[in-house]
Amino acid sequence: MTKATNITWHDATISKEERRAQNGHGSVVLWFTGLSGSGKSTIANAVSHELFRQGINEYVLDGDNVRHGLNKDLGFSESDRNENIRRIGEVAKLFVDSGKIVTTAFISPFRSDRDGVRALFEEGEFVEVFIDCPLEECERRDPKQLYVKARRGEIKDFTGIDSPYEAPDYPEITVRSDQFSVEEAVEQILSYLREKNIL
Ligand SMILES: Nc1ncnc2c1ncn2[C@@H]1O[C@H](COP(=O)(O)OP(=O)(O)OP(=O)(O)O)[C@@H](O)[C@H]1O
Ligand SMILES: [Mg+2]
Repeated sequence: MTKATNITWHDATISKEERRAQNGHGSVVLWFTGLSGSGKSTIANAVSHELFRQGINEYVLDGDNVRHGLNKDLGFSESDRNENIRRIGEVAKLFVDSGKIVTTAFISPFRSDRDGVRALFEEGEFVEVFIDCPLEECERRDPKQLYVKARRGEIKDFTGIDSPYEAPDYPEITVRSDQFSVEEAVEQILSYLREKNIL
């Protein structure tokens, strides 16, 4: 692959701090991680609705707007999953630079991939949100009927079945989505943002 070498980084004339000041709130990435069916998309969209309602500049990066576009060339092998997460991390960083609260809702099963994304950000900007739900409950929910297919061997490398999920060691937030409602999860995440003076 040919890599561009003659590219100069233009310093943005408007700083991240100025954008945050104009918005009247901080900007971070809420990096959701958890098994398929744990509730990442459901809770991410509920958080998004509540932030939007409050006039906060926010955006959600989720399967459809990333896997079908930017990352449509990627599959589910380990190296493609690594690259999927790396690109999402870089996009999330641009959103944070733009002064928004960006929520990402990807399984992101590998600790090293998530830590690689964390390293792109300044202290406090990367908020890892572990959507913690036992595999049995995710499989019982099976909203997309993916576990049924994985058990039948129709999907290979499915996280939790024949591909590992590495839970975060020190997530900023852990949401027990088998014990708390979507509304309670939203409140837990918003109170974290208030506590850290992001809102
Ligand atoms: N407390 C809860 N929090 C979140 N989702 C819940 C909760 N209780 C039940 N659910 C249900 O669990 C399912 C979670 O599915 P969702 O698509 O949000 O998972 P996901 O983590 O985004 O999965 P995937 O990685 O496959 O995209 C939904 O059908 C949702 O209604
Ligand atoms: Mg989802």
